[in-house]
Amino acid sequence: MYRALKKDWKGKLKVQQVKNPKLYTSMKWILILLIILLALVILAFVVVFIVFPLVFMNSIGVQRFFVFWNIDVPKNPVFQNPKQYGFYGISNFYISSEKYINSSELISLGAYWVPNEKYKDSNETMDEILAKNEFPVVLYNHGVASTRILQVDYGYATLRKMFHVIAIDYRDFGDSTPAELTEEGVVLDVVHTYNLMKTKTQADIYIWGHSLGGGISTHAVKWLKKHQNEIPAGLIIESSFTCFQDEVYAFPLGKVFSWLPWFEWCVIDPLHRNGFIFNTSSNAEDADCPIMIFHAEDDNVIPFSLGEKNYHQIKSTRKPRQGEVFFYPFAASKRYQHIGCLQDPDAPSYILQFIETCTTWTRTYDSLHSNHSDSSMVFQNVK
Ligand SMILES: *[C@@H]1O[C@H](CO)[C@@H](O)[C@H](O)[C@H]1NC(C)=O
Ligand SMILES: *[C@@H]1O[C@H](CO)[C@@H](O)[C@H](O)[C@H]1NC(C)=O
Ligand SMILES: *[C@@H]1O[C@H](CO)[C@@H](O)[C@H](O)[C@H]1NC(C)=O
Ligand SMILES: *[C@@H]1O[C@H](CO)[C@@H](O)[C@H](O)[C@H]1NC(C)=O
Repeated sequence: MYRALKKDWKGKLKVQQVKNPKLYTSMKWILILLIILLALVILAFVVVFIVFPLVFMNSIGVQRFFVFWNIDVPKNPVFQNPKQYGFYGISNFYISSEKYINSSELISLGAYWVPNEKYKDSNETMDEILAKNEFPVVLYNHGVASTRILQVDYGYATLRKMFHVIAIDYRDFGDSTPAELTEEGVVLDVVHTYNLMKTKTQADIYIWGHSLGGGISTHAVKWLKKHQNEIPAGLIIESSFTCFQDEVYAFPLGKVFSWLPWFEWCVIDPLHRNGFIFNTSSNAEDADCPIMIFHAEDDNVIPFSLGEKNYHQIKSTRKPRQGEVFFYPFAASKRYQHIGCLQDPDAPSYILQFIETCTTWTRTYDSLHSNHSDSSMVFQNVK
């Protein structure tokens, strides 16, 4: 049957060749084009699904960029002159961090001092204002594809209503020293910022992390407790994830690749091996301070489901002595997506409520610690 058909096809072709040579030539070209097209498709498949995963797997530089996206946003930023962007009463300064833990090699981090609104027009220095201990301080830790300039509109304008804000660029972001980006390194940058603020004020210090910054902040809180027995007044996790691995699967690019049988071997395992973990949910187990989580339901970068899952995981491991965890979802109809939660008209009241909780909690925590009582018993009464 097959042979017969083939003969028939060949026979027809011969007839056509004689009858219509033009048609034969154009068919030949169509066939050649089809073969080229097929070759291109195969090549694209090999590059996208085989070469790229292999390159990713073997290059820590590619992985690092994929994790941190440390590009300049906005383009060609001018950090020294915040006024250029229309930002008022903000000053630029630099903080020292260590290249590695316990190393003598120092690096410099670009930072913004965003004093509380009350001091917007003040001619007093940061140190003078901080020494008054008048407002709590919040360390704002940004996410990927960002610099400390980006949040001035949304973020700091809201936060400076109740805090003094300190916003840094981690190593290799913005105009900070281009040292190697590692999870431990960026955590160290937050730790050094926290320690510096501790020397300048006795007011409460909060740590706020947006997106990947939420993972970094939570890890920093764990680090401070483990190495310095130091606990901030409160931790805020905005639009972040449970752990980086979950985000890789949830991110559109990850979704494209994750059906590959070698995805775990080429992408997930190397990220783990190289220490890019950012396990917010498990690091939060060591955070002995109240936690507040913000997430927009229409987040298009880190899905709402990850923020919600993070909340439930943290809540499930909380011990009464650690303080409460609060979750504020923002309706999709508000269109805050990934970076807009702080625009919400209710955000200031959520934050003030949280500060109130943390202040009460800090006082109770301190008194319990100074009395050496069994804190887990008493803390059940603190709400
Ligand atoms: C750093 O050094 C100090 C004293 O030299 C030591 O107690 C501490 O454990 C070290 N920290 C780390 C993280 O290695
Ligand atoms: C700061 O401003 C006040 C007036 O608002 C002025 O009296 C004072 O001299 C200024 N101080 C400095 C150091 O410029
Ligand atoms: C992150 O921590 C959670 C809770 O401890 C754990 O279940 C999960 O396996 C961890 N994920 C990774 C990728 O380590
Ligand atoms: C701890 O001591 C403070 C005074 O220093 C006291 O007010 C407080 O009630 C004590 N707390 C407990 C649990 O004994």
